[in-house]
Amino acid sequence: MATKTATKSAPKKKAAAKTPTDPTFETVKIERDKGITFLIMNRPEKRNAMSPQLHMDMNDAIDYLAIDPATEVLVITGAGKAFSAGQDIKLYFRGTANDPALRQKARSASNAWRWQKLSRFPKPTIAMINGFCFGGAFTQVCACDFAIAANTATFGLSEVNWGILPGGIVSWNVGQVMNYRNAIYYATTGEPFDGKRAMEIGMVNKAVPAGKLKAEVVKLARLMQQKSPAAVRYTKEAVRSVRFMNEPEAADYLNAKSDALKHNDKEDGREEGMRQFLDEKSYRPGLGHFKRKKK
Ligand code: COA
Repeated sequence: MATKTATKSAPKKKAAAKTPTDPTFETVKIERDKGITFLIMNRPEKRNAMSPQLHMDMNDAIDYLAIDPATEVLVITGAGKAFSAGQDIKLYFRGTANDPALRQKARSASNAWRWQKLSRFPKPTIAMINGFCFGGAFTQVCACDFAIAANTATFGLSEVNWGILPGGIVSWNVGQVMNYRNAIYYATTGEPFDGKRAMEIGMVNKAVPAGKLKAEVVKLARLMQQKSPAAVRYTKEAVRSVRFMNEPEAADYLNAKSDALKHNDKEDGREEGMRQFLDEKSYRPGLGHFKRKKK
């Protein structure tokens, strides 16, 4: 059916056609921008409060994207004026109170995607905090490698305001990104704070004007796309894992991890990086990254 002329021009267009047809979800949507995948919690009318369905959808979506070659960087964000208002108090708490099976399913999905799967995601992850971010939503922010917020975003460990504690693993998460004083202060007062304050206390890397949020996230994602994917993956795994080791364990693990990276890096970035610096003299590793062959 296609004419010969059309067939001739096909190779150039093939690269763009690689973008897969994504599955659709009830409470989550996927948007793409040249290797950056935006995974969006999509219940804007409920401020993206996390219902059991949303947890199951996020679980499935993250499994799908982890092995999706078109996803080079993953961005987690929320639709509308919220990032996420935390666990859905009606559907997650009250709605499962008399249904132990659903409670167990929801809790397990909730813990799996927000921490285990996201913190171990094989590609760089960025939390883009566009608005309200409460309670249980702190976990996915902490699980991401990077977090960038709008100055005007509102964060809060609001659990105490309605008589519970920051459960799941929120108390553990905030103890890692914030210092102890701030973790206790915000967890026990429930006092909301904005994006700028979130940056001061280590909850996010950066806070920017709301109108520049997406551009700032894309800029960081594009930078990460230029780096060796294997080196980035092994680096984030290494930094995450050594936190819980003593010095001899860390040294041993890092030796083994370095050998594994050398062995498993399909692009052989280490050799290429050395070649471009020492032989070609085309870049300075202290000031920037080598040029990837496949980019
Ligand atoms: N659980 C269940 N429903 C929620 C929710 C949550 N965590 N957060 C918001 N919603 C629902 C509201 O009940 C409301 O539903 P309705 O339209 O059917 O009445 C809808 O989302 C919009 O919320 P509303 O409060 O009207 O919006 P707002 O913009 O004025 O305020 C918040 C937004 C996030 C400040 C406010 O909704 C809030 O405090 N939510 C609870 C946050 C929280 O403590 N989360 C921690 C849970 S562990």
